[in-house]
Amino acid sequence: MSTLAASQQSFTDNLIEVRKFEPDTSQVGEYYFDNDPFKTHFMNAMSITFPEGERYFLRSVLAYRDEISDPKLHEEIQQFCAQEAQHSLVHMKLNESPKRFGYPMDEVESFVGKMLRARTEAGKKSAAWRRYNLAVTVCLEHFTAVLANQVLKKPEVMFNGLDPAIRSLYQWHAVEEIEHRAVAFDVYKATGGSGLVLRLVMLTTSLMFLFSSLRITYIFLRKKGNTKRLSTWKSGFSYLFLPPQAMLFRIMPDWLTFFLPGFHPSKYHRDLDTTSVLEEVGQYLRPADTV
Ligand SMILES: [Fe+2]
Ligand SMILES: [Fe+2]
Repeated sequence: MSTLAASQQSFTDNLIEVRKFEPDTSQVGEYYFDNDPFKTHFMNAMSITFPEGERYFLRSVLAYRDEISDPKLHEEIQQFCAQEAQHSLVHMKLNESPKRFGYPMDEVESFVGKMLRARTEAGKKSAAWRRYNLAVTVCLEHFTAVLANQVLKKPEVMFNGLDPAIRSLYQWHAVEEIEHRAVAFDVYKATGGSGLVLRLVMLTTSLMFLFSSLRITYIFLRKKGNTKRLSTWKSGFSYLFLPPQAMLFRIMPDWLTFFLPGFHPSKYHRDLDTTSVLEEVGQYLRPADTV
């Protein structure tokens, strides 16, 4: 084996580009997704976890930076962090919108933030926690790549009835999630992370992510009495389980690839046309040097 091959730790073969995105969310209505409380609040539940969640991801990856010897992977870690930091800022701005309608965004965000910062602190004292934090990040990066794949391939199904500014925001976010989908995985593997542990963490993390998204959705729905309406639950069941959206079934085949022998994120989602998506959302993009 050559010296070059022995030191290779990055297996990303695409560019990871940092872009600034400035959505105009000033006109976003209360039920911005198809005028539907369940779908809107399910999306709010995801968005509320992004600012703190993505900061947790970058802290979890940076905790291993000093153990990486491949300069290419070092560069990719930097780009990964810059992209996630941008996503965090843009979702903070988006989360201002439901706040205008009286939803307890700050309380939920503060709870999520405290929990994730405690995990990072635990990782500074314990190798097991540090490894667990990185494993969770790898798993949720797979989850976001799987969702991003659907967003980019089937926008008409995923986003039917969604406010155009928010649709653009998620399309931009999806492109960047696809670009950096392998970075945390490569750091995990390069630092000796176990494949078996990763698969176990994937099972627990996916269940926790789904449960916490539904729990937050419920909190927001309850705020305006929507939990008492049968139409809310009919819409929720249909969105998660029935065609055309059937979110949970739609993502399942992609999600399962994680458990295949020899899985690597770069082997998947290679055929996506991100260029035309970026052209579509171009009105909100700004040059990277203004980041
Ligand atoms: Fe992100
Ligand atoms: Fe990400």
